[in-house]
Amino acid sequence: MKFTGITGNFTEANAEALAVAVFKGEKPTTGYLKDIDKLTGGLVAALIKAEEFTGESGDTALVRFTPKGSVKASRLLLVGVGPLDEYKPHSVCKLSGTATRFLRKRNIKSFALLPRYDAEVVEVVQNAVQGFITSQFELDKYKTKDKNNKQVTSLVICIDGAKPADLKNGIARGQAVGESINFTRDLANEPPNILTPTEMAKRAQAMAKEVGLKCEVLDEARMTKMGMGSLMSVSRGSSQPAKLIVLRYTPTRSTAKKGELLALVGKGITFDTGGISIKPSEGMDAMKYDMSGGATVIGTMRAIALLKPTVPVIGVVAAVENMPDGNASRPSDVVTAMNGKTIEILNTDAEGRLILADAVAYAEKQGATRIVDMATLTGAVIIALGVHNTGIMGNDQAFVDEIVGCGRAVGEGYWQLPLSPEYSKDIRSDIADIKNIGPRGKAGTIMGAVFIQEFVDKAKWAHLDIAGTAWLDSGKSHISKGPSGVAVRTLLKLVESSQ
Ligand code: BES
Ligand code: ZN
Ligand code: ZN
Repeated sequence: MKFTGITGNFTEANAEALAVAVFKGEKPTTGYLKDIDKLTGGLVAALIKAEEFTGESGDTALVRFTPKGSVKASRLLLVGVGPLDEYKPHSVCKLSGTATRFLRKRNIKSFALLPRYDAEVVEVVQNAVQGFITSQFELDKYKTKDKNNKQVTSLVICIDGAKPADLKNGIARGQAVGESINFTRDLANEPPNILTPTEMAKRAQAMAKEVGLKCEVLDEARMTKMGMGSLMSVSRGSSQPAKLIVLRYTPTRSTAKKGELLALVGKGITFDTGGISIKPSEGMDAMKYDMSGGATVIGTMRAIALLKPTVPVIGVVAAVENMPDGNASRPSDVVTAMNGKTIEILNTDAEGRLILADAVAYAEKQGATRIVDMATLTGAVIIALGVHNTGIMGNDQAFVDEIVGCGRAVGEGYWQLPLSPEYSKDIRSDIADIKNIGPRGKAGTIMGAVFIQEFVDKAKWAHLDIAGTAWLDSGKSHISKGPSGVAVRTLLKLVESSQ
């Protein structure tokens, strides 16, 4: 793939098509749109007048420039970006992705993009490149025919008056982030017979080697020795051994306060049958994406290694398969976690919290002072928030606010649910310290969070329940259906704003 940034006139851009952002309700009477309308012989004005194109976000219209015009591109793609006052650098990601998918379908290999956002150049260019890369991810990896082989291979980004260094930097950042998001999505999409915990660890190791991260993989013997009885209990019913994947990023020059360490912790259930509390077979196939939190951690660590922020970050992924067999955990089993707390397992399908209990405790033991865990933890979060917001909860309001703010800056939605002390009482067990479920049908998402909270000691901690947001059931104008790669961009923003 080829990326070019230009500061001159868009008419000079060497590409088959020109894609231009158009605001909702915009008339082609001034500025860029007026110039462009002229080059089409008034076609743009006619389309807008007839309301065949409205500028609504994701709206598209393809026309031809007049043959003897002065533009190098022969086609013009209008792409709606919604109201001008809601237009942000992150909107350029959807703009670019929408244009890419539209043109790819029509066999076009190169286009120039006119995002019409002249400030925050690095961020705008980054989003243009990111959208271009993430929009071309498809689910057809295992198809032997009918693959989508069409690719747009060249993008020219036109921003008036931009500094060449900013264009270059934006392109490099966009490639790093876009490819890391796709890395996450590829992992999340892998079938569970292929992506076992062992394979997930191998992929993390190979990635770490490629980008220069430290990677350590703890096997079951090590985990047992460290007292991770909660995590290990989930793995008992599977013939696939569990792995704890630990990725470390250390900056060459650190600006972090002494002793400060951010940990990203992910749920990596490579398949969730529910265990002995087995799930109904209808829809169980979806549970291959139950390792999306872990995939997000691995993909985010990849991007961190490439972006080289000045703060250290550690990534911890508990990769485990939840299966039922003669060795599997039973409802009513009692296990002891690494921090010494005893857990009565009342539902083996509430396994994500069991593995995260030991994973967050491990992260804190490694020196983490701030922990973000992410997990497809509860069906309840889908009932509560649907697919447009990730549920967020935590033990420190300022930290939660910071993450929500990072999400807003990159266009990812988060919605906080409360974690007041009364909820913690709901998971008190009659025979052990805590039980792994709360009262049936009551605040299921919060129950998951208050459980994990029991394994955080002094660190600031936030929990992201991505069960509703990690998988798209239908495609959008700028992205295919399937794994979304949600939270990677938010976490990168968090890391970079901590510098
Ligand atoms: N992996 C599931 C949660 C889930 C459900 C993710 C649907 C995505 C879509 C999790 O391990 C689970 O089974 N949770 C149970 C918890 C319950 C037993 C307390 C749930 O949500 O039903
Ligand atoms: Zn489960
Ligand atoms: Zn699960």
